[in-house]
Amino acid sequence: MAKKLINSVGSFYQHYPRIPLIVTASHQGRDNGMAVAWHMPMSKNPPLIAFVTGTSHFTYRLIKESGEFAVNLLPETHAELVAAIGGSKGEECDKFATYGISKEKSVKTSAPILAHAYAAFECKVVEEKLYEGHSMVIGEVVATHIQEEYFYDDGTLNMEKVNPVLYLGCEQYLNIKQAGIHTLKREVYAKELKL
Ligand SMILES: Cc1cc2nc3c(=O)[nH]c(=O)nc-3n(C[C@H](O)[C@H](O)[C@H](O)COP(=O)(O)O)c2cc1C
Repeated sequence: MAKKLINSVGSFYQHYPRIPLIVTASHQGRDNGMAVAWHMPMSKNPPLIAFVTGTSHFTYRLIKESGEFAVNLLPETHAELVAAIGGSKGEECDKFATYGISKEKSVKTSAPILAHAYAAFECKVVEEKLYEGHSMVIGEVVATHIQEEYFYDDGTLNMEKVNPVLYLGCEQYLNIKQAGIHTLKREVYAKELKL
């Protein structure tokens, strides 16, 4: 079937579903996090992860000040938390207190690790590239936290036990277990969520 040519790429939703991360950072005792769907692993040796963030985001400012961040992978049972964190601004609220998010101690950075994450990576910023209001931040992984019971011996995810959050764009999330798509309005969860 012939493809239609369109004039813009819009929001790149053709690339979805994507697993949104929670990128966290901390500076001078102030913790924050944001949802990030635009990210990728870059290299295993050295272990590098890249993501793209708007430069106005509070999390980005904490990363610039500290030179560190952590990426957290949440199970689909916590999709509402992704919507809430991605729908609220650290400048206006303490997301950890507002949503009742439990933190675990990081070991090599100051960036908070989310207790509900099934995996998290602490990273030191090694490079960034700015593009008109956006920055691609590249970090080297300096510590990896995993909930071992959710992974097979070869390191792959055991989806009998845990499923990642899958985001389709336009506030829609795919729930693999229930084989359905549900809409989680970020402004609703940003206002109402309490774990
Ligand atoms: C599922 C989801 C994915 C998102 N992905 C990105 C992203 O890749 N890059 C980005 O800059 N913002 C992304 N956002 C928006 C930020 O998470 C949002 O603007 C957040 O409020 C920033 O928080 P902060 O200002 O406290 O850092 C996403 C939001 C959601 C809900």
